[in-house]
Amino acid sequence: MQSLVTSCGKVRWVHGHDSAALSREAAGMFAEVLRTEEQPVLGFATGASPLQMYAALVEQTAADPALQAAWRRAHGFNLDEYVGLSPSDPRSYHAYMMANLYNHVPIPRHHIHIPDGTGDLEVACRRYDDLLTQLGPPHIQVLGIGRNGHIGFNEPGDSLELRTHVADLTETTRRQNARYFGSPDEVPSRAVTMGIGDILRARRIVLLAFGASKREALERAFSGEVSTRCPASLLQLHPSVTVFTDQDVRPALLRG
Ligand code: GLP
Repeated sequence: MQSLVTSCGKVRWVHGHDSAALSREAAGMFAEVLRTEEQPVLGFATGASPLQMYAALVEQTAADPALQAAWRRAHGFNLDEYVGLSPSDPRSYHAYMMANLYNHVPIPRHHIHIPDGTGDLEVACRRYDDLLTQLGPPHIQVLGIGRNGHIGFNEPGDSLELRTHVADLTETTRRQNARYFGSPDEVPSRAVTMGIGDILRARRIVLLAFGASKREALERAFSGEVSTRCPASLLQLHPSVTVFTDQDVRPALLRG
């Protein structure tokens, strides 16, 4: 794989043409945390972006008994969940995580933490933040990026919330995620999501952005300006972000 690593300010940029190879490299960063931390705390995301990374992590785990042992001590935290979908709903992020990662690695079931989108949401948010405080912050957090620059379900707006909260989804996001539901109308209008503060507390952040549809969001996120109108731009403030992308973007931050 041809990969160009440019250290620009605090963002490490890994560019290549093969998203599977980039995803394997990202999976290697998670494997490294699993191998080195006594009680590894891993932050996970959903959507199409991390799918190849999860497949690679499952493959690396199957081939390595030390990784299998490490998973037994690990805790996993997810960014978000739709309001109103129960864990057994195949469209829920719970179901996504079981199908794409957790059913294939030996993590204890009670070490799997995903926000609860049913029942009393305020209680669910506080409980999630308490758990994050108690066990976290994650040693490493993977993120995708929405076309409007959202991370988790922290949508663009006049302000951003720091802690886990209930977010109203924008029409853009509901349209973008309609492929999993049939039509935009069927996409829940709200979600429980970790806040920006929760995300930025992770020790290392891995952002995966593949395909031309992510190009503009990447340019904005690393333009050198920080704005709540592009939540991913706050990643520029984090001390350890690695971006894996197959897009030939040259955000201002990289040019400087
Ligand atoms: C959803 C998730 C985000 C994800 C984004 C991008 O809205 N809440 O965490 O990053 O979609 O999804 P994809 O990777 O499918 O493009």
